[in-house]
Amino acid sequence: MTILHTLRLVWYFLEFSFEAIWYKLWGGSSEDRDEEDVRGKVIVVTDGNSRIGKSLSMKLADRGATVILGCNSRNMTKGKEAQEDIMYETKSRKVFLVQLDLESFSSVRQFADQVAKQFPQIHILINNAEICNQTLDLETCQQGYEKHMCINHLGHFLLTNLLLPNLQVATPSRVVVTSSSTMLFSNLNADDIILQKYSSPLKTSTSYATNLSYNNSKMANCLFANDLGRRLRGQGVTTYSVCSGICDAQVFATTRGAIMMAKLWWTIIGLSPARAADSILYCVLSRRCEDETGKFYRFEKLYQPGNRKIKTEAARTLWIASDKAVKYYMTDEPAV
Ligand SMILES: NC(=O)c1ccc[n+]([C@@H]2O[C@H](COP(=O)([O-])OP(=O)(O)OC[C@H]3O[C@@H](n4cnc5c(N)ncnc54)[C@H](OP(=O)(O)O)[C@@H]3O)[C@@H](O)[C@H]2O)c1
Repeated sequence: MTILHTLRLVWYFLEFSFEAIWYKLWGGSSEDRDEEDVRGKVIVVTDGNSRIGKSLSMKLADRGATVILGCNSRNMTKGKEAQEDIMYETKSRKVFLVQLDLESFSSVRQFADQVAKQFPQIHILINNAEICNQTLDLETCQQGYEKHMCINHLGHFLLTNLLLPNLQVATPSRVVVTSSSTMLFSNLNADDIILQKYSSPLKTSTSYATNLSYNNSKMANCLFANDLGRRLRGQGVTTYSVCSGICDAQVFATTRGAIMMAKLWWTIIGLSPARAADSILYCVLSRRCEDETGKFYRFEKLYQPGNRKIKTEAARTLWIASDKAVKYYMTDEPAV
């Protein structure tokens, strides 16, 4: 690691910490955000039962939107509880729960078919579900892709493309992809942009780094939002990638190395799920960014160091590779 690289890391760390503390103490409110009215609008959220996803869905239901929670089909009990909590707290009757396993492209297809049929117009799609596995073992999904890339990016890529016609008839509409500032530490390259070589049996697990895979999938989120924005420019569908800020002490419970330091740091800069959801709400609802598309945001503003890392050429390469990976599930043939 060069001195320059170390200095850059320290700078990112300090910058993030200061921004997070500022946001925690004085960050945006509904008024600052100049929010669109979402009463009667249809919003799809992948994973409405995680800390951030549930809080976000609660806020949207509370504002009068119809909210569809795409919940992990392996954990529908948790999804059902989240749906009931949201309906109880917001007094909304327009919160729907639909099974979704982003790891399985046929499940994504089934989810999209069902939602698209039931809701011909979709105003906002929020790609929020994720995995961030703290294991050194290489894991692959059913389709054979590296698991972070598959769930965090490819599943969402497929879903967004399948729901695109419904978004296009509901303009102005938005696609928001929850990414992370860890995208700054990714190393995606054009030769293996969806990490196919990673998941190849020839690749040994010792050359696999979990956090790097997560970071790469989060960079893929940003590249995807960027290229989608470019492709849809002028058509009334705008796209955003966004870092929620850190909101989970559990992350540090399993992180190797300087755990005590990390816990102390988290206590100072960590956001509650509700506050992290607020930071995403900017891209979901604010009129201030309605004319922007394809950009990366953090704490309710454009995050330029992140945007500088998003390269148009890489975004195009990722699109082509992702399209090839999920193409079969985009055709009119039955998905299963
Ligand atoms: N938390 C943070 O500090 C932080 C920081 C920066 C960015 N973010 C971003 O914010 C978003 C939300 O984070 P979070 O911490 O609230 O997430 P989380 O608590 O880790 O929850 C992730 C959710 O995704 C679901 N999920 C996992 N695999 C799935 C699959 N195959 N199909 C469908 N759903 C699946 C999980 O369901 P199960 O529980 O049933 O597996 C869980 O409900 C993520 O995109 C994350 O990258 C978070």
